[in-house]
Amino acid sequence: MPWGPTSRKPFAANLPFVYVNVAMTADGKIAPASRNFEPFSSRRDRLLMYELRSYADAIMSGARTLDLNPVKLGNGGEPYTRMRWRRGLAEHPVRIVVSGHATIDPDAEVFKHRFSPIIVLTSQCAPVKRVKKLHSLADELGVFGKEQIDFPQALRWLRKKWNVKSLLCEGGGEVNGALFQAGLVNELYLTLCPVIFGGRDAPTPADGEGVEALAEASQLRLRRIKRVGAEFFLIYRALRPAARRDHD
Ligand SMILES: NC(=O)c1ccc[n+]([C@@H]2O[C@H](COP(=O)([O-])OP(=O)(O)OC[C@H]3O[C@@H](n4cnc5c(N)ncnc54)[C@H](OP(=O)(O)O)[C@@H]3O)[C@@H](O)[C@H]2O)c1
Repeated sequence: MPWGPTSRKPFAANLPFVYVNVAMTADGKIAPASRNFEPFSSRRDRLLMYELRSYADAIMSGARTLDLNPVKLGNGGEPYTRMRWRRGLAEHPVRIVVSGHATIDPDAEVFKHRFSPIIVLTSQCAPVKRVKKLHSLADELGVFGKEQIDFPQALRWLRKKWNVKSLLCEGGGEVNGALFQAGLVNELYLTLCPVIFGGRDAPTPADGEGVEALAEASQLRLRRIKRVGAEFFLIYRALRPAARRDHD
């Protein structure tokens, strides 16, 4: 059975189906506190990342993931191109860069490869000069929200304007956290790796502001689990918090 979304039904018809993929250490970190690029999961996990990309109209990542890592957000080449075509998707996913204050380094690897459209999401508080620079690097720039990006609004726009029906979020912790907090995540793909990073400032699968009480937490239902070697691969379905349903 392929490892990917079985149903791509979004929470609302005007939103994309959102799935998050993340590799986590046994102590709940996704990178060391230095945030240096440390590929700590297996080759199997990295192939799985491409498999998950092969279901996505678009892939989204945060400014730090993209400027601290040599990431292109490509489709992984053959055989993933064929998988995408079989699913009726474009050869490459649209790439979405999240940078609310437009702090992303314009020299980030992602901007050096022009195989698919790049959309930058930012907010009204981003300095004009940096926004102009990003505008020159991106195919489109969307401004949503005052201090932080208004993700419900941004995702509705992505669905309407760019026909993004399936959106894969590949971190980091800040972006994942914001999507969970907004109640927009449908599925979580979590790889549990036999590594300990430690470090109170090391990023986790969902950072940002977080919630204050269990009642506000994203509730997950385990859908699948498999073990390959020393790693566990888990798929969780997220139940939409009642308090977030007003976004539709
Ligand atoms: N293990 C894994 O699977 C995995 C996956 C991805 C990344 N990582 C690691 O995670 C680390 C990066 O994660 P991170 O949490 O530090 O950073 P991140 O989420 O990649 O990017 C953070 C930036 O994204 C923007 N952002 C995030 N949420 C926002 C919101 N609600 N509104 C507006 N802008 C928002 C901000 O940009 P501005 O500063 O411009 O406002 C923020 O500084 C790296 O070490 C990377 O290697 C690991």
